[in-house]
Amino acid sequence: MDTNVGIAPNGVGPTAGPGTGRGSSQGRGGGRNRLRAALITSDDRLRHTVFETLRDSGLPVTVEVDIAASIQFLAPEHLERLRSTQAQIVIVDMSDDPERAIRSAGAIAAGSPQSALVGVGPELDATRLLDAMRAGLVEYIPRPVEGESIREALGRVMHKRGWSGALGNGSKGKLLAFFSPKGGSGSTSVVTNVGIELHRLTGKKTLLVDLDLELGEIASMLGVRPRFHFIDLIRNFHRMDADLLASYIESHESGVHVLSAPFEPEIGEEVSGEHIAQILGFLRDHYDYVLVDTSKSLAPASLAALQTADPIFLVTNMDVPSLRNLKRCLPTLDRVTAGDPSRLRLVVNRFNPKSLVSLADLEETLGIEVDWTLTNDYGTVIESISTGRPLVLNGNSQFANQLKDLARDIVGGSAGANKAKASLIGRLVGRLGSKSKKNRAPVKSAPVEASSHG
Ligand SMILES: Nc1ncnc2c1ncn2[C@@H]1O[C@H](COP(=O)(O)OP(=O)(O)OP(=O)(O)O)[C@@H](O)[C@H]1O
Ligand SMILES: [Mg+2]
Repeated sequence: MDTNVGIAPNGVGPTAGPGTGRGSSQGRGGGRNRLRAALITSDDRLRHTVFETLRDSGLPVTVEVDIAASIQFLAPEHLERLRSTQAQIVIVDMSDDPERAIRSAGAIAAGSPQSALVGVGPELDATRLLDAMRAGLVEYIPRPVEGESIREALGRVMHKRGWSGALGNGSKGKLLAFFSPKGGSGSTSVVTNVGIELHRLTGKKTLLVDLDLELGEIASMLGVRPRFHFIDLIRNFHRMDADLLASYIESHESGVHVLSAPFEPEIGEEVSGEHIAQILGFLRDHYDYVLVDTSKSLAPASLAALQTADPIFLVTNMDVPSLRNLKRCLPTLDRVTAGDPSRLRLVVNRFNPKSLVSLADLEETLGIEVDWTLTNDYGTVIESISTGRPLVLNGNSQFANQLKDLARDIVGGSAGANKAKASLIGRLVGRLGSKSKKNRAPVKSAPVEASSHG
């Protein structure tokens, strides 16, 4: 029997119609490890089946928005709730008028690109089904609907979107962010070479993400010609799965994958922190290492990446403007790391032991310890550019070897791990008026030995 007829008793009843919404019977905020879902149906029987299935199946999905209305009659406040909840899954009942419902679903998909839309309705012919998929639906459950078909469809959505791993049921890749608050410090050089070396050492799936959305240069540094970029991924996220993701990614001959920054700087402005967080979560489900080159600013896109990254590599030079910029960013970094300084790694690039500013001065100024120094090596850099080969694949210069050491330490997970660091802010405050007592051993190569920090 087509349960569509079940609409009748409640179709105009107290729970139906535009402007009517319900709080979730599962309660709000299903917790960090649950997916947020929205349900749009005027059919109480379907509502009951969905809630019962979620309760009994153990799927980590919580209905946070329950809208008792037909999809064609959604009121502006419904759309606003859908948008603001950022539901990862939206279950839409399309039974009343599939053709109009497909158009409405398309509008929802466009307004909430992060959501995976799951339609429910009558059997559709192939053309309509194709229309529905083009509108942004990722699954369609023909009526009559049983718990099992809902469970299977949601399971497929979670698999396609890589959410099973996100919820702790699988392995999630490591997200490493590289941030430098001053232009030209070497962030792109470091992230690119460390990514290549990580892949070479481990053979694991490694992705370089260019989140310098205005002027990203990873692709050109590696000589790859991307067909798509980060914003394309955001725009098509509603239909993203592993296969589509693969078509958005370029492969470098070293084996690392690259997700490029946009080709035109201005379109980077469309991006919100939520988009970034969601996409990075998705990428971590598909890669062992995701290395992000952030922009020089603490714009929402960078903040979203820094918030989830562990660790964050702060790439700086030793000149006063670089240190001043970095120091100004420390309170924000303290906030995004929730006061956990063990998530920060300080990389001093273009290190010159004869510099007027010593490493001890630098640590004193910043209140954080230096984890690595990378030598200033113009000749090696020029040669790498002229041969078109990344530094770590182009001989055994000191700079290349230091970058390789850095990657090796990431694999070993040792860097910084044995340093008991106080909260950044705490250290800054604590150091006011106190001089460093430490005797620094001369730095020979990266990484700076933890013991040299006293
Ligand atoms: N250790 C080094 N020794 C010599 N030159 C270096 C070193 N590190 C980076 N460079 C060079 O400095 C320039 C800037 O480096 P890079 O583009 O990696 O920095 P960035 O922080 O990403 O800069 P941007 O502000 O453009 O994003 C490049 O020409 C790079 O080759
Ligand atoms: Mg750069």
